[in-house]
Amino acid sequence: MMRKWLLSLLLAIPAFVSADDYLLSTPHTSMLFEGTKGQSLHFCYYGDRVAPDEAGQVRAAGLYTYADAYPVFGYGYNPEPALQVVLPDGQLALQLVLDSVERRAVDGGELLAFTLRDTKFPVCVKLNYKAYQDLDVIEMWTEVSHEMKKPVVLQQCASGYLPLRGTEAWLSHLYGNWGAESFLQQEPLTTGMKVIKNRDGVRNSHTRHAEVMVSLDGKPDERSGRVVGAALCWGGNYNLRISKESGGNYDFLAGIDNLGADWHLERGEVFRTPELAVTFSPQGLGQVSRNFHRWARATHLAHGDKLRDILLNSWEGVYLAVDEGKMKSMIKDIADLGGELFVMDDGWFGRKYKRDRDNAALGDWEVDTAKLPGGLKALTAEAAANGVKFGIWIEPEMANTHSELFEAHPDWIVCPEGREPLPGRGGTQLLLDLSNPDVQDFVFGVVDRLKTACPDLAYIKWDANMSLTSYGSSYLPADRQSHLYTAYHEGLLNVLRRIRAKYPDLVMQACASGGGRANYGILPYFDEFWVSDNTDALQRVYMQWGASYFFPAMSMASHVSASPNHQTGRRIPLKFRFAVAMSARLGMELQPSAMSEKERAYSRRAIADYKTIRPVVQMGDLYRLVSPYDDKGVSSLMYVAPDGREAAFFAYKLQHFLSQEWPAFRMDGLDPAAHYRLTELGLPEGARPVGVSGKVFSGRFLMNEGISLPLSGEYASCVLRLERVD
Ligand code: DGJ
Repeated sequence: MMRKWLLSLLLAIPAFVSADDYLLSTPHTSMLFEGTKGQSLHFCYYGDRVAPDEAGQVRAAGLYTYADAYPVFGYGYNPEPALQVVLPDGQLALQLVLDSVERRAVDGGELLAFTLRDTKFPVCVKLNYKAYQDLDVIEMWTEVSHEMKKPVVLQQCASGYLPLRGTEAWLSHLYGNWGAESFLQQEPLTTGMKVIKNRDGVRNSHTRHAEVMVSLDGKPDERSGRVVGAALCWGGNYNLRISKESGGNYDFLAGIDNLGADWHLERGEVFRTPELAVTFSPQGLGQVSRNFHRWARATHLAHGDKLRDILLNSWEGVYLAVDEGKMKSMIKDIADLGGELFVMDDGWFGRKYKRDRDNAALGDWEVDTAKLPGGLKALTAEAAANGVKFGIWIEPEMANTHSELFEAHPDWIVCPEGREPLPGRGGTQLLLDLSNPDVQDFVFGVVDRLKTACPDLAYIKWDANMSLTSYGSSYLPADRQSHLYTAYHEGLLNVLRRIRAKYPDLVMQACASGGGRANYGILPYFDEFWVSDNTDALQRVYMQWGASYFFPAMSMASHVSASPNHQTGRRIPLKFRFAVAMSARLGMELQPSAMSEKERAYSRRAIADYKTIRPVVQMGDLYRLVSPYDDKGVSSLMYVAPDGREAAFFAYKLQHFLSQEWPAFRMDGLDPAAHYRLTELGLPEGARPVGVSGKVFSGRFLMNEGISLPLSGEYASCVLRLERVD
């Protein structure tokens, strides 16, 4: 009822606030454009919400930018262009003016669209801005088309342009590498241009991320300052450009990267860019993260309204040495520990070519009956008998040179004509050419066949361990080779749409050599992503902190693994390992049969405890309290349920020195007037809880004064459940 009422109110607001102001608002933000038919459209303002009758205030306060809403190359003051084309007669210049404006209700919100046309050639650019009525996010995307006989070449076509008002802006973004993804980088934006690019071709978040935050008023702060967040929703190559010109403002552009990616646009064809999702808050980085998380759960993450299962993944437990006996015993183990899902990772497939090493059989998605004589049926039956679900690993975009697939379809490989493909993992891994519809059918068929043969299959871990290193497609014509980077991802999205249409309930994890596919181009089709192949709990604190800037906890797969850790060799107590994984989507990835009875008993308790806070961790609002990057020796964060009745608090000791000092943990997001009982979770049997456990405090006290925690010993940790008592 409420939604309908709000919507009709929104629609009652006229498109023209004054003669040519166009205002678009979410509950707490507004975007303002100004334009007159036949003239340039200007982007005037993005920031705190202004009421329709207050748009004039923005101008009166001198707080507006007067930039072209979509800067183009070649005719004017030479801005950094969003659009750069080559017209059929060789001309490069465009001059776009406003032709028409459309405002209408769309699913969940309102769309404001401006149609711009070139003053000389029949080239049309449609700028779309979608505002949600109950989420503080605006999605923008661009559609380009033309009516000329010969193709127009798009050399650059950004999803969107955003002028930012500020003089001391700082950028927060994520960087890393395999095994060290999502590290946080914060830096001042000085004069010149900061460019964030990815050119892997297949995955796009190992080294850099397509999401950024810009703190407009100086050093980034969790709780204060105007912050703009932006996420480019694209799984392929991208470039984000932020420049500071003299005069104090910043220009932000984001879109598909243009290197090797000219798009030949045919007459009547519409090139639609990926969406760029932006959000704003005057209350610091924390609120921008919460805005992204809420938006993701509601619109850009599969099953964002459902709690995730607690799982055991077989990879670090047995690696490729999968067999029926081990799988069955792992199924029993996770059931016994209180988990809900078992995932059989790599190693289960291949007939002519065996998957005993990582250099063969990708593409041959048939059960290796030597390893699994009872096939998948025996395993799903075992899972059902133990009351858990069953999931499986695939890497369907890839083949090995040692595979029946490659023997049958050597032309399905991404490779320039006349050259040998450059193989990846195992010296034999190849990338399938998803621009080819036959390959798309094949990849869809991998999932379809598995689900048909095994309808009980509940979960798929979709891996991708290869970059696009040998650029070329035998499917695309010679004069359209430059479409490959984009067409590959369009092809992948086609496949994912088909899978989602046919199997809406299937849970899927986006894995790409760990955290290579943490982005909102991919996530609408996936329930979660594998944060990193690095399961070391200490390093995970830093990586999960970074990822939390943009991605909600329910999407971040975090597994308790063995000690010493297989990637870093570090020895970390089981309690700390659980405490880190419990702050995200908890799972396990080890061989339970190698655990002691004491460790198993502890795991059972921790899993049971996680279940009590799972709704607040996975659906609640995140408040980051003490950053691991601030070098205070500790780190802390908490989640608060949307109704404020529950919260979950986490603290980790990251350094261990004699006479060490660390701050009191001041909480956030609670109701100041309410009272909360604190209970320590994840305690080993018989251990004494921390002093605050069992006590009641007011929300105001917890937020203004906080609590002091002993955190004695190396890798101490504390997980608290907060329950409102009044
Ligand atoms: C890379 C993934 O990131 C790992 O978790 C695991 O699934 C392996 N591939 C399997 O080959």
